[in-house]
Amino acid sequence: MGQLNQRHILVAISGGIAAYKGAELVRLLKKQGALVRVVLSRGATEFITPLTMQALSGEPTHTELLDEAAEAGMGHIELARWADLMIIAPATADVIARLAQGRADDLLTTVALATPAPVAVAPAMNQQMWAHAATQENIQMLASRGIQIVGPSAGEQACGDVGLGRLLEPEAIVIALNQRFDNRLLEGRRVVVTAGPTVEAIDPVRYLSNHSSGKMGYALAGACADAGAQVELISGPVHLDPPDRVTLHLVTSAAEMCVRALELADGADLFIGAAAVADYRPESTSADKIKKQAGDTLVITLVENPDIIASVSQLANRPVLIAGFAAETNSVMDHAREKRLRKGLDMIIANDVSDPDTTFGAEQNAVHLITETEERSLPLASKRVIAEQIVLAVADSLERLLRRP
Ligand code: CTP
Repeated sequence: MGQLNQRHILVAISGGIAAYKGAELVRLLKKQGALVRVVLSRGATEFITPLTMQALSGEPTHTELLDEAAEAGMGHIELARWADLMIIAPATADVIARLAQGRADDLLTTVALATPAPVAVAPAMNQQMWAHAATQENIQMLASRGIQIVGPSAGEQACGDVGLGRLLEPEAIVIALNQRFDNRLLEGRRVVVTAGPTVEAIDPVRYLSNHSSGKMGYALAGACADAGAQVELISGPVHLDPPDRVTLHLVTSAAEMCVRALELADGADLFIGAAAVADYRPESTSADKIKKQAGDTLVITLVENPDIIASVSQLANRPVLIAGFAAETNSVMDHAREKRLRKGLDMIIANDVSDPDTTFGAEQNAVHLITETEERSLPLASKRVIAEQIVLAVADSLERLLRRP
């Protein structure tokens, strides 16, 4: 499978004669394993019907900014946050101009402004319109903001002209989007990620654990693999499929996770501790099921588990960069800063788990990255987008640490 498998791709179609090719683009993206939602501009609905796009994408098509039904469920902000990538294809000269100005006067431009995900634009227009200084300046502006411009290609146009301005063929758009995610930033690096909860047995049928879903750690392992790293994912029990091209090590307790982490982290380039490790375990595990006793209390003595990430940072052959998480409910930044220093970490990724949007198990996250020299926030986005942004930051820090004499 390519880089688009399981990604949330928002296809926005604006009103040009090439709008019909949006249908083929959606079909090809689905074939790549992507989950696709479609936004049609009002102009696009003159060329292609919402029903066609609904049938192809398997999801309702979105057309109106102020749509009471949509706002109740998947409103423009939810759509913007759902996306791992937004592709506007075809993008008319008018849409490009409105994107350049940062307008938000219809659903398409509003979502483009509101999404934290990367945006790609595939222009399609008459060759004279494409060549016009106004369009060229707008395109330069979009490119300078990090928007990926795919195409246009040259050839015969619907209006009879010949020249640059044709929508890139949908196959070529899909290849360009695949390459977008294939950044090779961690090429040749060895990365170890811990994820999920740990489970501490009380007896053969009972245990102590926590609500970690493992989604953030799995997304990070996937993003590191997409960036070309050799990834070892040490996971507690979760209900997730492992990402492609990742070596999975399944463990149960913190003690097992610790042994595996110390073994794999030795000499690694990067260690990311995303696991929600149980801080304590029962002092002893009963071999038989504990029977109910007379009286109404049961005392289980708990002993402290090893701090895995702190132990990794003490290794003689310590990973070059160690990043941990701090899931906090109050004084998030203060606790996170203190935790980074106490555990000997290069980076800590703090999140507020008292917020229902970013709590354990949520599909999205919003985090703060804290290093010795820098603090910055990554606003609410899908865990995959957050993971990719963390990988960008981590790859950058890793480069700097490796250059340090
Ligand atoms: N961690 C670890 N081993 C532990 C506990 C935590 O490796 N025994 C790692 C987590 O994977 C995470 C970081 O340490 O990267 C912070 O985890 P957290 O549970 O927030 O820290 P604690 O030390 O348990 O602090 P507290 O529960 O008191 O907030």
